[in-house]
Amino acid sequence: MGIYFNAENKHFYLESKDVSYIFRINRIGFAEHLYFGRRIGRENMEYMQSIGAGSTYTQMPNERNQCYHYYNPEICFYGTGDFREPTLMVNNPAGDRLVRLHYIGHEILTEKPKITGMPSLSGGRTLILHLEDEISHFAADLYYTVYEEYPVIARRIVYKNNSTDNFTLDRAYSFNLPLIRSDYKLLSLQGSWGFERAIQYTDMQKGVVSIDTKRCTSSATLNPFIAAVSPDTTEESGKAIGINLIYSSSYILKVEGSSDGKGNIMGGINDFDFEWHLSPGEQLETPEAVIVYSNEGLGKMSRAFHDIYRDKLINPRFVNKDRPIVINNWEGTYFNFNTQKLIEMAKAVNGLGIDTFVLDDGWFGHRDDDSSSLGDWFVYEEKLPGGLKTVIDAVHENGMRFGLWFEPEMISENSELFRAHPDYAIGVPGRDRCKSRRQYMLDLTRSDVRDYIVNTVNKVICENEIDYVKWDYNRNVTDNYTLSLPKKRQKEFAHRYALGLYDICERIVNGNPDIIFEGCAGGGARFDPAMLYYFPQIWTSDDTDAEERTKIQYGSSICYPVSSMSCHVSAVPNHQTRRSCDMQTRADIAHLGPTGYELDPTLFTDEDKELVKAQIKAYKEDRELILDSDLYRVENPFESNYFAFMLVSKDKSKAKLTCYRRMNSKDEIKFIYPRGLDPDKKYYIPERNQTLMGSTIMYAGLQPYFSPRDFVTRVFHFEEIK
Ligand code: DGJ
Repeated sequence: MGIYFNAENKHFYLESKDVSYIFRINRIGFAEHLYFGRRIGRENMEYMQSIGAGSTYTQMPNERNQCYHYYNPEICFYGTGDFREPTLMVNNPAGDRLVRLHYIGHEILTEKPKITGMPSLSGGRTLILHLEDEISHFAADLYYTVYEEYPVIARRIVYKNNSTDNFTLDRAYSFNLPLIRSDYKLLSLQGSWGFERAIQYTDMQKGVVSIDTKRCTSSATLNPFIAAVSPDTTEESGKAIGINLIYSSSYILKVEGSSDGKGNIMGGINDFDFEWHLSPGEQLETPEAVIVYSNEGLGKMSRAFHDIYRDKLINPRFVNKDRPIVINNWEGTYFNFNTQKLIEMAKAVNGLGIDTFVLDDGWFGHRDDDSSSLGDWFVYEEKLPGGLKTVIDAVHENGMRFGLWFEPEMISENSELFRAHPDYAIGVPGRDRCKSRRQYMLDLTRSDVRDYIVNTVNKVICENEIDYVKWDYNRNVTDNYTLSLPKKRQKEFAHRYALGLYDICERIVNGNPDIIFEGCAGGGARFDPAMLYYFPQIWTSDDTDAEERTKIQYGSSICYPVSSMSCHVSAVPNHQTRRSCDMQTRADIAHLGPTGYELDPTLFTDEDKELVKAQIKAYKEDRELILDSDLYRVENPFESNYFAFMLVSKDKSKAKLTCYRRMNSKDEIKFIYPRGLDPDKKYYIPERNQTLMGSTIMYAGLQPYFSPRDFVTRVFHFEEIK
């Protein structure tokens, strides 16, 4: 396994677990894709190229028989006769936009070099393919990283100006992946505030299907993820190619089907409102795309994403560490709290097993609602007399650690920061800025603004005993403009926003290595792999209704592990949907990730307290399954009345099945077919006081016997009997 180059036929073989990726340098010197799929031998794969005859298509230079139309490019160029979407668009110094990138050499590295200023998967044997245009000396380095234990290839491109003149790029995608058929279904994760990452299928078509955002954030609307799946693909069988961008700003993923029944997937930084200037010797690094191949359906594809993110992306300091079990005051009080109230809340949960008290929005400046104070990261003394210390001391006295909310990228018009530095807010001089949630955004492309954020946030963190930070982000970028760039470079803004964000994350998150940071974006509007690099867990959605959460968590699990999905039990009727599910249902769904309670615990009855205590005790027993297990999606709430997740330990000795039924029905006979167990092992099921073979459990199934109500759960555990 690894990366091999056959100098004779100029084939590159990239091999990881179960997967081969093969391309060659063809006679013209172009990188030509030959195969991506199940692991195969290191054969001569020249026969995979299709020879295009006839005069209707544009022939390649000096090639009578081969047409651009038929060749499957590793990178697509414009102006050559390849009329498909190009991977890059270059403005040459001479005024033309032509580019033909020829192979000039390659390197094979045992360890992938880090991308400057952007998160990426760590490690991995890496091929760098050096390509250059012979005339303009514009160049591109194509990076391919293989992870031998995972069916994953990571790709990105570095665009380089090797000339003595200036270039601009109108498009600079991270990868192009040819598809050898065009009847795929395209799975993407779409949504909105409160309903993030719902599964959406579109047919691949002749022409372009694209998903993107133009918001300088990865967004609740469309996650930077797409999968091409065969028409017959299910959870357990069929082909699925999943692609996820490690990127948090405006991105695009495009799938183009062509008339000959083939296609391409490409993407990276959105080329909408994009232009990048490259002076002689400069280069542009693009975000990494994580590409997973599965021949065993969506389930295996998802498990590969989960594994690679846990092992190569999420901070190793936290990835397998027990996560805080929090009480968060947001839905319990919103902005309406004071020191006394917080102390009462802390007392109310003493002894229940909750280990972290999180003080959410409203503790700083003069913030009593969402109209003021963002950017003023000093304590609101009138609301919290004695400062944070009094609250933190009370939290400690009640046996918990303390967590605090920030929204570092924002600024309120009504703030000391805005009065002193109105220019810190993103906007075009002379024009009114757009407000969203009554706030503006800070210009992270400016180093002085970034320094302000880092210094003020770090000061609060240093001066107080803080063990957990919730990093929120409640609006998208508008008024894209910065004083830090000259007029002709304003279209670099969206990508520079991402670089600025990663810089402050490096300095605040990695600068405070003992603190766990939770990502949040008005719910789950920035749930992407780049954020996961900094935040081992992300608030999945502001919609905490168990029924809605089954779908949100199911959709999120398509590429994100359950250990990354922060889920809380909240009060009923639910504040978002007004639905009332019972406390056990809410807990069973919220306990499928790093968890907590987000309500006013001073309203708990003694009975509630006993129930919460029992729930947390049970949760703690399953903690390792949340952190590191294989997820099998057993029932799909988008398609049925049920939801079921099965978490199976890596050694298959332990598992937990959470089943949920939406609507009660008198004539129900429901069997659930657990998956992922070892068919030859015996398992004890404590909830049924029964021991069965793995094969029996999986193939004969179990009847959950739900209580005769709507919105109910049943949980089963499976413990190996030796
Ligand atoms: C949006 C978040 O998703 C909520 O959990 C909460 O932190 C609010 N912001 C606070 O303004």
